Amino acid sequence: MKKQFNLMNCLMALGIVSLATLNVSYAQTTDPQVTETLNNSFVSRGIAKKERVIPDDIQILCSDKVFLESPAGQKRAVELQAIALKEIKPPSDGKYLGDWKEGEKVAQSGRGATWSDNEKTVNGGSCYNCHQVTKAEVSHGTIGPSLLGYGKLRGNSEEITVYTWNRLNNSKAYNACSNMPRFAHFDLLSEKQIQDVMALLLDPQSPVNQ
Ligand code: HEC
Repeated sequence: MKKQFNLMNCLMALGIVSLATLNVSYAQTTDPQVTETLNNSFVSRGIAKKERVIPDDIQILCSDKVFLESPAGQKRAVELQAIALKEIKPPSDGKYLGDWKEGEKVAQSGRGATWSDNEKTVNGGSCYNCHQVTKAEVSHGTIGPSLLGYGKLRGNSEEITVYTWNRLNNSKAYNACSNMPRFAHFDLLSEKQIQDVMALLLDPQSPVNQ
C-alpha cells in the first residue's frame, strides 16, 4: 500500500506547528496526493516560510464548500467572524483618518510579503488589484466592488468609520470567506498605513470622493 504522507504530521514532528493550532472541528479530508504535492513543491525562501501552506481555521472552513453550506458550517462561519471582529483594535491614538495622499500610495503598491521581499520591505495594500479606487487610475481589478465615491455615498458617521476600519483590519470579521486580505491580522499593513487608506476612502478632499 502506498504510504500516505501527511504534511500536518510531518510539520508537527518537526515541531513547526503545535497541537494547539489544530482545529478538532476540521471537517475536510484533504486528498493525500494534494498534501504531498504541496509539501514537495513549497520551500521556505527568505521571509516566505513554508508554514504558509498550513491553513488556519477560517481557511480550512472556506476551503470546504460542502461543510460551509451546511447549518453547522454556517454556524462555524458566524463564530469565526465574531473571533475576527474581537481581535480588531481601534486606532491607538483615536484617529481613524490619516493622510489620503499616503493612502493612495498604499493602495497603488502591491509590494511585500513575497520571497523577493525582506523584513524591511514596506508592504502595500494592492487595493487596485481588486477594486476601482480613483478615476485617475484606469488599471484596476474587479474582484471587489468599486470604491469610487465611497465616502461621498456613505458619509462619515461613526458607524461607517468603524465599519471601514474593521473591514481594512480584517475583512473576515464580516464575511468569513471574504477574498480580501486580512491586513492587520497578518501585519500586512501598519496602523498608520490603515489610517492613511481610511482617509483615501473617507476624506472629502480625497480623489475617491470627487
Ligand atoms: C484580493 C482582493 C482584494 C484586495 C487586495 C483588497 N480587497 Fe477590499 N474587498 C475585496 C472583496 C472581494 C470585497 C467584497 C466584500 C467581501 O469580500 O466580503 C472587498 C470589500 C472591501 C470593502 C467593503 C466595501 C463595502 O461595500 O462595504 C472595502 C472598504 C474595501 N474592500 C477596501 C479595500 C482597500 C482599501 C484595500 C487595499 C488596502 C482592499 N480593499 C484590498 C477584495 C479585495
